[in-house]
Amino acid sequence: MTPEPRPTAAQLLAFYLEAGVDCALSDEPVDRLADPDLAQAPRETPSPPATVVTAAAASFLQAEAPPAPDAAIASAREAARTAATLEALRALLDDFDGCALRNTATKLVFADGNPLARVMFVGEAPGRDEDIEGLPFVGRSGKLLDRMIAAIGLDRTKVYIANVIPWRPPGNRTPTPQETQVCLPFIQRQIELVDPDVLVTLGNPSTQALLGTREGIMRTRGKWLDYQTGTRTIRAMATFHPAYLLRSPSYKRMSWQDLRAIAKVLQQAS
Ligand code: URA
Repeated sequence: MTPEPRPTAAQLLAFYLEAGVDCALSDEPVDRLADPDLAQAPRETPSPPATVVTAAAASFLQAEAPPAPDAAIASAREAARTAATLEALRALLDDFDGCALRNTATKLVFADGNPLARVMFVGEAPGRDEDIEGLPFVGRSGKLLDRMIAAIGLDRTKVYIANVIPWRPPGNRTPTPQETQVCLPFIQRQIELVDPDVLVTLGNPSTQALLGTREGIMRTRGKWLDYQTGTRTIRAMATFHPAYLLRSPSYKRMSWQDLRAIAKVLQQAS
């Protein structure tokens, strides 16, 4: 049998990218299967310090460590609460170090569209294209979202678009519940500041995070729900995420029903 030719570096990189590996954790590869100690150790377990650190080094190391979960959530709430405008909120997020996703992301993906829009769409988290451009929904699913919006006579100058998580999770992995909890106060404040007539959550993660639902998107989509900003109630509807529609185009029919219902409410409210 002829052995397979060795892949080139470019082919290997393309393979890693395709598999969602897009950042290096160390300069040297670690074969966790070959080393029995490493193979058994849970990946996240830090090894005990080999040397005694000075007080100055300890304070530097502490400053580098992400804040403990509860503290990060509390400081996110406090920071978001103080933002009087969308610009201030963006600046606060830019400085916020309570979510480690900012360290692997290229750019903060804050929002796109019109801050005075009457309808706001919220997705889950940016992907690769969004991370590069710093704008939400600019990749393949974004193109479909544009077509969905166009189908009800709107475009990005008439809607506002954001995500629950404003930094791309490495390799597009699912954000952890803790990452979602830390980012939640910021998107909640963003919704309050935009103050749309209609809030549309795209897909299950943003629906569950913002509307507090427990059921899947099949059950929650297409129904009018209330979103409480703290100062007022906004009409909210969950619908399919465009990435889901790209994989399952047969659900576009239901998505169209949701969009028509949204258009009708916008028309009535104007
Ligand atoms: N998916 C999302 O949920 N948000 C984006 O911005 C892009 C893809």
